[in-house]
Amino acid sequence: MRIDVLTLFPEMFESPLSSSILKRAQDVGIVDIVLTNIRDFAPDSFRKVDDKPYGGGPGMVMMPGPVFDCLEHVEKLAPPKPRIILLTPQGQRFDQAKAAELSKQTRLILIAGKYEGFDERIRIGLDAEQVSIGDYVINGGELAAMVVIDAVVRLLPGALGDQDSARDDSFSESVGGGLEYPQYTRPETFRGMKVPDILLSGHHAEIEKWRKQQTLERTKRYRPDLLRPIYPKENTT
Ligand code: ADE
Repeated sequence: MRIDVLTLFPEMFESPLSSSILKRAQDVGIVDIVLTNIRDFAPDSFRKVDDKPYGGGPGMVMMPGPVFDCLEHVEKLAPPKPRIILLTPQGQRFDQAKAAELSKQTRLILIAGKYEGFDERIRIGLDAEQVSIGDYVINGGELAAMVVIDAVVRLLPGALGDQDSARDDSFSESVGGGLEYPQYTRPETFRGMKVPDILLSGHHAEIEKWRKQQTLERTKRYRPDLLRPIYPKENTT
């Protein structure tokens, strides 16, 4: 997969992209992540990408020209037709199903703009899907783009070692869209808290049953809003 990110702050991506699973996925060629600075497409030598708002008011508004020019340049850098995503709080809410859907693409372009002051023609004129990472406002799309990249890349085949498998992640199909079951490791007793006996029993079928039950109980307790689509029969009374 190739992921291009258009941003005014490429330096914000340095640490997350050069650590842990995202670093390894790039090193072994599972994903190619390319950052392009929108400011390189500024029309003048002052590298200005924003201007005063028409109609007056505080702050500066990001001009559409550099964003469009940058996107047109990046689109031509690689052959597959990309899925273009604009990170904005007005977008469709990002979730695990969306991450799974995006992980099947061969090419994504993520556009991270400043939150305040985005010329409306960027939203209207770009043939882009709008995606939000939640109902809150952050200062720009950079952290949102990193969340999308992280959630998508961990789903790419080979990105995780077997021991880190995403199969039973919370919200994934294998747990019916609910929460992941509890996990334990050594020691068997820690500050008086014991590992459940069932996990030490070696009965794989029973462990599987226990985990399913735990997923249901935890989801009911902590995220009942997730239950209806998972266990529709239980909730139709
Ligand atoms: N930019 C600012 N807030 C955002 C959000 N919640 N999701 C995506 N992009 C954003």
